[in-house]
Amino acid sequence: MTKPSKRKILVTSALPYANGAIHLGHMLEHIQTDVWVRFQKMRGHDCHYVCADDTHGAPIMLAAEKQGITPEQLIERVKSEHLADFSGFHIGYDNYYSTNSPENKHFAEHIYKTLKADGKIVSRTIEQLFDPEKLMFLPDRFVKGECPKCGAKDQYGDNCEVCGATYNPTELKNPYSAVSGATPVLKTSEHFFFRLGECVDFLKGWTGGSSKRADGVSQPHLQPESLNKMNEWIEGGLQDWDISRDAPYFGFEIPDAPGKYFYVWLDAPIGYMASFKNLCERSGIDFDDYFRADSDAELYHFIGKDILYFHALFWPAMLKYAGYRAPTGVFAHGFLTVDGQKMSKSRGTFITAKSYLDCGLNPEWMRYYIAGKLNGRIEDIDLSLSDFVARVNSDVVGKYVNIASRAAGFITKRFGGQLAANVEDETRLLGNIANEAENIAAAFEAREYAKALREIMAIADIINGYVDANKPWDLAKQEGQDARLHEVCSVLINAFRLLTIYLKPVLPKLAESVEVFLNIEPLQWADAQQLLLNHHIKPYQHLMQRIDPVLIDKLIEANKQSMETQAPTAAANYEPLADTIKIDDFAKLDLRVGKVLACNFVEGSDKLLQFSVDLGFETRNIFSGIRAAYQEPEKLVGRKVIVVANLAERKMRFGVSQGMIVCASGVEDGSGLFLLDADDGAEPGMRIG
Ligand code: MSP
Ligand code: ZN
Repeated sequence: MTKPSKRKILVTSALPYANGAIHLGHMLEHIQTDVWVRFQKMRGHDCHYVCADDTHGAPIMLAAEKQGITPEQLIERVKSEHLADFSGFHIGYDNYYSTNSPENKHFAEHIYKTLKADGKIVSRTIEQLFDPEKLMFLPDRFVKGECPKCGAKDQYGDNCEVCGATYNPTELKNPYSAVSGATPVLKTSEHFFFRLGECVDFLKGWTGGSSKRADGVSQPHLQPESLNKMNEWIEGGLQDWDISRDAPYFGFEIPDAPGKYFYVWLDAPIGYMASFKNLCERSGIDFDDYFRADSDAELYHFIGKDILYFHALFWPAMLKYAGYRAPTGVFAHGFLTVDGQKMSKSRGTFITAKSYLDCGLNPEWMRYYIAGKLNGRIEDIDLSLSDFVARVNSDVVGKYVNIASRAAGFITKRFGGQLAANVEDETRLLGNIANEAENIAAAFEAREYAKALREIMAIADIINGYVDANKPWDLAKQEGQDARLHEVCSVLINAFRLLTIYLKPVLPKLAESVEVFLNIEPLQWADAQQLLLNHHIKPYQHLMQRIDPVLIDKLIEANKQSMETQAPTAAANYEPLADTIKIDDFAKLDLRVGKVLACNFVEGSDKLLQFSVDLGFETRNIFSGIRAAYQEPEKLVGRKVIVVANLAERKMRFGVSQGMIVCASGVEDGSGLFLLDADDGAEPGMRIG
């Protein structure tokens, strides 16, 4: 077997915003990255893993203000919370930094100046909504109003969650500022733009291209799904990208442009460089070796599918035209759902990393479960809580840890802790397991962790079959079987050691305990080619508990509570009360109880569900934009809902909608949509009022 040549690899996870808690969705990404990094380090490569908090932007400025502290105080507090969460899940960064750092300011200014000198920056005057009370320009998310297409109330400035329309915030009817409630006014301002359209030839080449790794393997820059998306965007025409924001803003002021700041998404990816630079200064790594234009080092970004545009277009173009190398690969993953639905604060499934740890759940249980679902594609991943318990208990404890616990006692009690000097009868069994090392490595390298773990568990099954066939507990009772018992248990300890090597990227702390138990140096991938013979091991101590399902109930409860304690700060996000109406106004609204006869996805729409609703006197066809909150439409069949029955019919792309199903919408994260129920006894057709 040829030894793979040593690679220089720099890896990042997306930088979490500094105004929110780390939840299991973030954790999915950092677990995915950490497993990969630990694997590369075990292979002997020079691999570095950096991350940081993403600290700039209007939301962070406003959040600090609401809490009565400075943005600097906010981001410092949040950074220590984030770090505690990540280290609690054994995420092994080589550096976790901040985008509000001198290194980041330096690189942001340098990149901007270089792009400007190259003619890639233009300035233009634009009109934008301005909050006349708060005296600030309003980001799209901070303007709300009625959808210009369907009239739905309280929609964000960029798209309507009810009908799916996209528009400019200036098109909203009756707009209001989500910061102060004031009616925004149009105001002009000079902005700076990055001319992305000028980079189109480079981007076509880069997005569809690949880079050669030091070991000769060709690495495509994008996954096939990402490439398709980028092609669509490139063909749609690349717009200039607005990279400046007006004061008041929390960020870096643009050189020679007082009162103008870099947009947070300009300096965020530069934060990867800044974090690495900070690491280099501390540890003597050569920064330029990784970032100069002709660098032979590899650069990988692990990100969620929602931020592909920034990483697969803006970022490579910025790097390239500022004289640096572009990434070797952008690895996008899908989103985490819990029990088949988007994480929800009201259901207690918006699970924070902290609550998970505080409930006494072992982080390696989650690492194993998530890794067991990950592959190299952009697919959403479901955390099914019952499956989580079953899977971890059966695989990790039942199949893997048990092997050690069944063999170690005999080695300690009967053989003074010494492993047999040879296992001749079984070298083939162990050899076969060692021969899987490269297959399993290939799966980890390709981020096919689910496949890797399936292969590892298939080996565990074979070993457990060997235990059952050889019954050490019977051998222990038989005269003259000492040598055989010694051999069988030594085989088992060796098999367990090989499994530990393969599982170590996923279960690093457990592997550490195994290294102590086996009395060995930290395991590397190449160690699979040797056996542990005539070696003294320590007495076995329990390595991992089973998951008690009671902990899961505790976890869900804890996340419901953490929502209640958040309620006071969320209060500021309630919709302002609408104008007072007379009873006659209310009487105009004909609300009826309806019963869902059928509910289905709508082909070609990722927002809508199509309902057939029995109103007693007739059946209605209704489209409702609640798919994000109800991903299993068949489960809604039979439910009683409330229908606006006298709403004018509306022609949509998919058919005519005959009414509207009413929903409560979330106040805390803007994403919640909740159908209303009628109590038992209410029948289809009954009027509400
Ligand atoms: N600050 C930006 C990233 C800047 S990178 C230069 C940001 N922050 S974030 O906190 O909103 O998200 C951080 C990462 O977490 C993103 O990659 C995002 O896709 C990922 N996830 C957030 N929620 C997620 C799930 N529910 N599931 C999986 N990943 C999710 O975007
Ligand atoms: Zn609409």
